[in-house]
Amino acid sequence: MNSLEQLVVSAQADFLAAADAAALENAKAKYLGKTGQITEMMKGLGKLDPEEKKAQGALINAAKVQIEAALTARRDALAEAQLQLRLNAEAIDVSLPGRGRSQGGIHPVMRTWERVEEIFRSIGFDVAAGPEIETDWTNFTALNSPENHPARSMQDTFYVEGNDSTGKPLLLRTHTSPMQVRYARNNKPPIKVIAPGRTYRVDSDATHSPMFHQVEGLWIAEDISFADLKGVYLNFVKAFFETDDLQVRFRPSYFPFTEPSAEIDIAFGSGPLKGRWLEVSGSGQVHPNVVRNFGLDPEKYIGFAFGSGLERLTMLRYGVNDLRLFYEGDLRFLKQFN
Ligand code: DAH
Repeated sequence: MNSLEQLVVSAQADFLAAADAAALENAKAKYLGKTGQITEMMKGLGKLDPEEKKAQGALINAAKVQIEAALTARRDALAEAQLQLRLNAEAIDVSLPGRGRSQGGIHPVMRTWERVEEIFRSIGFDVAAGPEIETDWTNFTALNSPENHPARSMQDTFYVEGNDSTGKPLLLRTHTSPMQVRYARNNKPPIKVIAPGRTYRVDSDATHSPMFHQVEGLWIAEDISFADLKGVYLNFVKAFFETDDLQVRFRPSYFPFTEPSAEIDIAFGSGPLKGRWLEVSGSGQVHPNVVRNFGLDPEKYIGFAFGSGLERLTMLRYGVNDLRLFYEGDLRFLKQFN
């Protein structure tokens, strides 16, 4: 092997040994750079006479072409290897099961909420929403529960930081009844409204949750009587439970904000709950003191109110026996309603 052939072999070997682009460029400099061996040989040609120059020049050039070819081949190989590495790193395993997108559904209590709104809207009731953080006056006093009245202890609640304008601590509303006051003070009679929403009490067992839902109903005009309450509520439960085979009974009770007051019980004529009286709502004729707190004259305006538990209605409609199931977020339970 002459020295040019050796040079080509050694360049090929150096290029092959270069593990990355930087190493390859260094190896290239050794042969083809400004002071590389091929470059130096070219410079040396000047000293030769024309014949030799031509012959030697052709040989050097041939070697240069080979070295350049080896360089290009190695460059391509390194680029290809680099690409493969990246492809491998970014590879997607198409055999993995997809993550999927499961469909959401409406919570059963929210379904009840929507149905209640729909039914009452259909008989001309407005739907109102109010704050969950209430003042002592709206939640209790305006509803005829004066401070220190024992009836307040039926509704122990959570107090939050901050006071109202009279310096009394704010609280989480224990019922939706304060919405009677808020709505009636902002609307002119006839007042015909329901107010569904979240309510809070210091209570927790299979039938009580610290957060639960109620719907308040209020109808005040010049001539609204208990007979209207009976008609409206019977119509509501028949529509809600989708049956006419059902009875309603009014059982005397006590609430500070109504006089007289009644619990509303229903009994189904068929099905698993057939014949059992089930309590679904508190109700009554709005107390004159409360009508006065609405800013209205109780000699002129009269009407009824009711407050029903949305969880209770939901449990009866679907046959759920433990309230806590509504708040655990267990999909096996929730999926049954969608
Ligand atoms: N606010 C009562 C409660 O949470 C329920 C209630 C009873 C509401 C009678 C009313 C009513 O509007 O007239 O226990």
